[in-house]
Amino acid sequence: MILVTGGAGFIGANFVLDWLAGCDEPVLNLDALTYAGNRESLASLEGDARHVFVQGDITDRALLDTLFARHNPRAIVHFAAESHVDRSIHGPGAFMKTNVEGTYTLLEAARAHWTSLSADAKAAFRFHHVSTDEVYGSLSAGEPAFVETHAYEPNSPYSASKAASDHLVRAWHHTYGLPVVTTNCSNNYGPYHFPEKLIPLMIINALAGKPLPVYGDGQQVRDWLYVKDHCTAIREVLSRGRIGETYNIGGWNEKPNIEIVQTVCALLDEMRPDPAGPYARLITYVTDRPGHDRRYAIDARKIERELGWRPAETFESGIRKTVQWYLDHADWVAHVQSGAYRDWVATNYAGREAAP
Ligand code: NAD
Ligand code: TYD
Repeated sequence: MILVTGGAGFIGANFVLDWLAGCDEPVLNLDALTYAGNRESLASLEGDARHVFVQGDITDRALLDTLFARHNPRAIVHFAAESHVDRSIHGPGAFMKTNVEGTYTLLEAARAHWTSLSADAKAAFRFHHVSTDEVYGSLSAGEPAFVETHAYEPNSPYSASKAASDHLVRAWHHTYGLPVVTTNCSNNYGPYHFPEKLIPLMIINALAGKPLPVYGDGQQVRDWLYVKDHCTAIREVLSRGRIGETYNIGGWNEKPNIEIVQTVCALLDEMRPDPAGPYARLITYVTDRPGHDRRYAIDARKIERELGWRPAETFESGIRKTVQWYLDHADWVAHVQSGAYRDWVATNYAGREAAP
């Protein structure tokens, strides 16, 4: 079987669902079920013996040792992380704990397990570290997109903690020979995305008739990738990626935030028209995020050249599927909007008065 960490989060849940839809190799899913973890995203696997869910923390070494001994996974796909930049600004401690200490603890447990394997099993073992393009910092308008050799220049507590975890993974390969691969991916969107992030927040606020808060001038650029394409890329790198290498994954789809918000509004106008008028009337410019990175862009030629991967979804097809998914899953949305979610919205948006 494979061990997936963070498999109740946005990308992890999509990965587990796609994995088990495509093959019968069981998944041991270790997730602490923080605010971002949601078992409801995995409801379709209820009663499926191929999915073993364990609620637990990647900083818990004793638990990790027990799980490795009991289940003998042949590979780890490591998603578990604190992942939201705005939360890292309000409270960086959890990011250091999970992203840095958690990755360190997982590496050490994986190394102990790997060391005990036979020569063949050792050679076949993989530690796949899932990371982000944000470790490379911010690009200006004309600069070439990030390649794998770009200098690390993380700017937020989130990206700094992910950069630290990438360095740990690299060092565990270099020093101990642990067979690792790392992927650095651009912004994902799609089903099961927690509505603190841009796209689901805009869909959900629009449907509720609430303001659509655009930070600063809305001209920050992100490279958007449909989550299922990220999952396909991870499977390719896990099975055929070269040990010790990193692969950038992106959508070849750079767009300014304001254009994303306008697209979401136009789709909702078409799919769920509001008698009160076009959803774009709700767009509200608010105070910018401190240290806000201006532009991310991924050069995904290495993974295409070596592994033949390219995104299957265009932004037009992916965003339409995503909006439709949120319209069809009002229950999932209602359940994730707990009291804790409402507290977060109050914390993050209070004091960001509407810009003129
Ligand atoms: P998410 O916040 O939606 O999910 C994270 C999951 O990890 C949750 O289920 C949470 O319960 C779990 N978790 C958190 N702390 C844990 C701990 N200490 N022990 C065990 N489980 C814990 O995140 P996501 O958007 O699905 O991102 C997954 C990974 O992909 C992260 O490593 C992130 O850095 C990376 N990534 C995300 C994006 C993106 O656009 N979302 C892009 C590139 C890379
Ligand atoms: P986000 O989804 O938080 O991802 P990241 O910060 O990791 O790129 O944000 C995407 C972009 O959208 C980012 O430039 C910040 C911006 N944004 C807003 O303008 N308003 C919002 O309410 C949120 C959550 C994000």
